[in-house]
Amino acid sequence: MTTITAVRGFKDILPSESWIWRLVEDKARDLARRFDYQELRVPILERTELFARGLGEATDIVEKEMYTLEDRGGDKITLRPEATAGLVRAVIERNLVESGRPLRLFCLGPMFRYERPQKGRQRQFHQLDVEVFGDPSPYIDAEVIVLLRDFLFELGLNDVVMRLNSLGCPKCRPTFREKLTAHLGARKSELCPDCLRRLDRNPLRVLDCKAEACQAVTADGPILTDFLCPECQEHMTGVTTTLKDLGLDYVLDPRLVRGLDYYARTTFEAHSSLLGAQSAVAGGGRYDGLCQSLGGPDIPGVGFAAGLERLILALSQTQTATAPKPDYYLAVLTQEALGPAFGLAYKLRSKGLAVAADWAAGSLKSRLKRADRLGAAKVVMLGPDELAANEVTVRDLGSKEQFKISLTNIEWF
Ligand code: HAM
Repeated sequence: MTTITAVRGFKDILPSESWIWRLVEDKARDLARRFDYQELRVPILERTELFARGLGEATDIVEKEMYTLEDRGGDKITLRPEATAGLVRAVIERNLVESGRPLRLFCLGPMFRYERPQKGRQRQFHQLDVEVFGDPSPYIDAEVIVLLRDFLFELGLNDVVMRLNSLGCPKCRPTFREKLTAHLGARKSELCPDCLRRLDRNPLRVLDCKAEACQAVTADGPILTDFLCPECQEHMTGVTTTLKDLGLDYVLDPRLVRGLDYYARTTFEAHSSLLGAQSAVAGGGRYDGLCQSLGGPDIPGVGFAAGLERLILALSQTQTATAPKPDYYLAVLTQEALGPAFGLAYKLRSKGLAVAADWAAGSLKSRLKRADRLGAAKVVMLGPDELAANEVTVRDLGSKEQFKISLTNIEWF
């Protein structure tokens, strides 16, 4: 019979890796606690319409990357390609925003996009998603950027560059869009096929096309930030001043338009030089019109999502983190010691210690080898001599010190 393999672009997170995941998720929860963000767990499946309307029909995600299916009742549903739209839906549906009080939320979990898998790009991937609803202040934009920076830095990723831009608002962006479309239209022949398609539907996306020819065309075109209205300009200055005052480095990047249609004003991305082509570990921005476009009240929003696979890929190259190791390895050297060893393990684990053991008697040499492989701090040996004296021999694998402890002296451990 042929074996069954995982679906392309869907990966197992193996025991040898899952501890890093926990470390990253614990750090996310720690930051959320310190910044006063609460967890909202939204479903993995939503109505297709939520993403089509929320992210924009002309985005790559909605055009060609969604996992959409019809359920048995005939409803069109989609595996979430991102979390923002679902959170906005929940905030509207459950009426979560109290006026005058910003609602700070986070969500951790898997997302699904039908993209071509490559290093740092999968079809099932995971995000830490952070959102703030109900506050238009530039301090909130700065707060989420600072949270993101702290998240990355505290995990040990200190090579990240924060790129920052403003996309303007529905008042000022159309003028820029018009000027850009005219500029691109005059140089159509130089654009790549993707950008030719984008020209009518989503010309701003041409700005972040990676093709050299397209970059050359946009290099001498109009610059987004030159077209900001006074309110958007003031908002941008508010964000940059706050970041500067904190000493947080950023790079202004007028090409940063992002791949989703809901953004207005601030957009940002964190890039790591350790990642190659897919260098964005996180991205986000402000989306003040999104709530209304999904049928809700006029609630401003801002947030980001960090890609955990990419983060972990980068982390694995910095090697600052190590897997947790057992406190003790129980080396059972004789069949008769199995019972007492089992009892000892139970007591030590109840005390909160991490204890590894194999429930089969083996030679001292093989057991020491195993303890070493596991990286245990100490080995507890139980052989015939120890059993007769109702004690164990403890060896510290670091200092090589060795001593005897009574089996009844659990407090010692
Ligand atoms: P996004 O830029 O589409 O934004 O995704 C955020 C991050 O998720 C990316 O920077 C990347 O690290 C990771 N990511 C995206 N696609 C993949 C993939 N196929 N494989 C691995 N990692 C991936 C959003 O999703 C917005 N919802 C962010 C946001 C929240 N904006 C406002 N609030």
